[in-house]
Amino acid sequence: MWRNWIPFWRPGASIHASDVDLLFLALLAISLFITGLLLYLLLSFCIRYRESSGAPRGHRVRKSWHWEVGWTSATLVGFLALFAWGASLYLDLYDAPREALPIYVVGKQWMWKTQHPGGQREINELHVPAGRPIRLTMASQDVIHSFFAPAFRIKHDIVPGRFQDLWFKPDKVGVFHLFCAEFCGTDHSRMTGRIVVLAQADYEAWLTRQGAADTLAAEGEKLFRGLGCSGCHGEGGSVRAPSLDGLYGRPVPLQSGRVVTADDRYIRDSILMPRSQVAAGYEPLMPSFAGKVDEEDLIRLVAYIKSRAAVSGAPR
Ligand code: CUA
Repeated sequence: MWRNWIPFWRPGASIHASDVDLLFLALLAISLFITGLLLYLLLSFCIRYRESSGAPRGHRVRKSWHWEVGWTSATLVGFLALFAWGASLYLDLYDAPREALPIYVVGKQWMWKTQHPGGQREINELHVPAGRPIRLTMASQDVIHSFFAPAFRIKHDIVPGRFQDLWFKPDKVGVFHLFCAEFCGTDHSRMTGRIVVLAQADYEAWLTRQGAADTLAAEGEKLFRGLGCSGCHGEGGSVRAPSLDGLYGRPVPLQSGRVVTADDRYIRDSILMPRSQVAAGYEPLMPSFAGKVDEEDLIRLVAYIKSRAAVSGAPR
């Protein structure tokens, strides 16, 4: 492999790794070329027009517009092409395939907490199966962290107050580094972990060994009742509130006339800021649950509402 010739180059372990490497190397090569060209011109002019040289210093009368227009448009086209290249990769990396395995990540000072849909929980570790797209839904409990897994060529800041999505598909079995790449306080440098990629069968076995009592969705359902959400959103609620059965993934018409998709982000915002996006035809009566639920509770509630996606609810 040509990349093995580059010192310190760590081989990638995801399907996007070679695309990211190629983009990175192309940017590096272009930067080196431009730097070299500038250095060459700088030095040659220094030598040519040194004090003792007899090179002509008169004003040059003839000017070439071809050159002027040529290099300006070539630079523009070059940068636009680089932009399109980078953007296409970016768009691909942020749009997870539907069949991706959802994994939830919560960053807090100073640890990574990860959760599997089956309720299995890990700290500073994440076990995933190889050959399957993994969709990370990430949140921060306190300050800005950044999820950085160099082997998979993925990195994303986790800003408090919202979910961030990212996906990757590991294609090699092994143990890989996980770092926090955003200074987040005293122990930032120790906010590290490992991502263990297992073969599908080993992953299943690992999941079973963890022996989780409840799935994420089941935990979410308990919370849903405990917090009193079911009082209004459940069957026979005293207050008229939209049923959440069959909601996930559907378009929701809002009072403002906009239509949004009921995804993780929408549900999260509706729990914390219920008045920001009121469903059409309903009164803005719901109180905010900001401060009453933490990031892990939000993840459980979202998982529960997601699990009701296939249940046909009351017509909305
Ligand atoms: Cu978390 Cu740095």
